[in-house]
Amino acid sequence: MDRRNFLRLGAGGAGAAAVGLALPACSPMTPTPTSVYSAGVASGLHSPTEVVLWTRVEPALAPGVTSVTWEVADSAGFGTVVASGTAPVSAASDHTVKVLVGGLDPDRSYWYRFSTGAADSPVGRARTMPVAGAAVGSLKLAYASCQCYANGYYGAWRDVATRDVDAVLFLGDYIYEAGLIQLLGKVRDESFETVTDLAGYRSKYKLYKSDPDLQAAHAAHPFVPIWDDHEIVNDYDRTIFTTEPARAAAAYQAWFEYQPVWPIDGTRIYRDLPWGDLGHLFMLDTRQYRDPHRGGAPLYGTRDITTFETAAGRSILGADQRSWLTGGLAAAEAAGTTWKVIGNQVLIMPLRVRDDDTPAARAADPSLPLHAGAYTTANFDTWDGYAWERDLLLRSLADGSIRNTVFLTGDYHAWWQSPLTPDFDDPAAPVVANEFAAGAISSAGGANNENVLYGDAVLAPFAPRPAYIDGLNNGYGLLEADASTLTVTYLKNDAQFAGSVPVPRVRFTLEAGDPNATQELL
Ligand SMILES: [Fe+2]
Repeated sequence: MDRRNFLRLGAGGAGAAAVGLALPACSPMTPTPTSVYSAGVASGLHSPTEVVLWTRVEPALAPGVTSVTWEVADSAGFGTVVASGTAPVSAASDHTVKVLVGGLDPDRSYWYRFSTGAADSPVGRARTMPVAGAAVGSLKLAYASCQCYANGYYGAWRDVATRDVDAVLFLGDYIYEAGLIQLLGKVRDESFETVTDLAGYRSKYKLYKSDPDLQAAHAAHPFVPIWDDHEIVNDYDRTIFTTEPARAAAAYQAWFEYQPVWPIDGTRIYRDLPWGDLGHLFMLDTRQYRDPHRGGAPLYGTRDITTFETAAGRSILGADQRSWLTGGLAAAEAAGTTWKVIGNQVLIMPLRVRDDDTPAARAADPSLPLHAGAYTTANFDTWDGYAWERDLLLRSLADGSIRNTVFLTGDYHAWWQSPLTPDFDDPAAPVVANEFAAGAISSAGGANNENVLYGDAVLAPFAPRPAYIDGLNNGYGLLEADASTLTVTYLKNDAQFAGSVPVPRVRFTLEAGDPNATQELL
């Protein structure tokens, strides 16, 4: 059971047992397929000469099909086919198909489709990346996270599909493994059953990918997906690979089967994607390597940080990923790359609501934990639980004079913006980066936000104070950059309504070389 939802149900007066008894029998998890390509098509951003293509062939509607042909063309009308081939289809991968197409030209769109002979797939757009260091004028990205199917409709994805963007970053919680989270705001049918095995995780992807708006976004743009916790189970850390190894392996297998990502090395998903001389994307994995959370976390509310969370060496990235990231950021700066964009699962801005780390308090007690005080995320699931490593990473930006770094973040089902410094208890510490955390595609927000159970996003007296907070809306973020300016726009809607269209509500602007973001309400 998801502890936070357990709490919410209990707080509603029902009590866990009563709620358990009240749950209906499982509703059908996967809609009856209506087409051979019932999960749509997708592409993944991969390299300057390669793209990843993805689809799934529905075995009930294509019996006996053991391969598909694929074609890549230079136009949506398939004027010239520039690459083609066949790919196997089998139950071993749940009839998903993945192709790495090479030999393409850099920095341009291609169009692709699959065929069984009897049935052609929809056409999708793929894209190659610019060559690292090449002159590039613009970078446009949509970014999103947290798409609980039961909690809402995918109007945000319908809007993303119409946008002129190079690619879409997906920052985690593509599925929700737990049934009870649906009760935070259930507007669509999804099984209450919590999935724990390969068939269960696969059924989640089939359900979520049955949505036409999500399919439209995937067909329109290449994705760069990373996972967060709900692709396995709420708030996991690296101990899950010893406590529930079969479950974790099943969850990761299903993720790789259903995402347009070409494996790099085992289950490694952190990777960097250079964007010419203009930008460099770093996609993190703050889940599978993270050190364990402190035991005995309260169900909700705030909690004092201790030397457990602040211990030197404690890591959310793991040592290999940390040196990859700090080294990559330094190399991007040295190469003259303007914008460093970090795709990040959980908030790196502090969520401290009581500051106990005053100069007087520290003078009186030098053994105070780093950044002492009370924090809203009571189990320290965000970077707050890894305070030493956060300061180390941000200090590396200051020490290396690494400019123009932005974190794009998901997880919290709320909208935030905050300047980041290497020591937020030092008023003289420089701003070295900015975080732009966008709200959920559809997962419940506002009073029903699972994370608000850890403390109210809007009312809490944060210290330091974020520059922008909105805990109410759904939607996605839009990043647009050229050599002089980077803007992030928050487009918001209410996913409880099927027709709700995201509209731009606030835009943040960074000028290259100046770490101070400006904010304009729209
Ligand atoms: Fe989420």
